[in-house]
Amino acid sequence: MQDASPQAPATRGQRTVINPLAKARMIDGQWLPRVIAEMNDYQFKVARIEGDFVWHQHAETDETFIVLEGELRIDLRDGALVLRAGEMAVVPKGVEHKPYAASEVKLLLIEPRGVVNTGDAQGERTAPNDVWI
Ligand code: NI
Repeated sequence: MQDASPQAPATRGQRTVINPLAKARMIDGQWLPRVIAEMNDYQFKVARIEGDFVWHQHAETDETFIVLEGELRIDLRDGALVLRAGEMAVVPKGVEHKPYAASEVKLLLIEPRGVVNTGDAQGERTAPNDVWI
């Protein structure tokens, strides 16, 4: 289990009201997921994304996407899911996926602490983990 990053607020999001979309708007770049809260070993992360991500999968965990703003397409090897604001989807562990956004999407991700955004793939889209906003 990882320790909290220095950026983690002392409360770690507990007993406070959190606005995920407002938090997403505070991020100063795209493809930089930021942790806004934790529940047990799970983290809630917001991100701003635009364009193409990389094909990847997470061997150890499912991954939940909730769209806050914009329209997100999650490409799967056998099709695609299109999510609009207020919609969500769970990508099962081991299933290859590639998020895509024609214009900027703000989203909320729910996954266990320590999950790397690019899963089994590496590259320029791999972002630092456990950074809070
Ligand atoms: Ni993923």
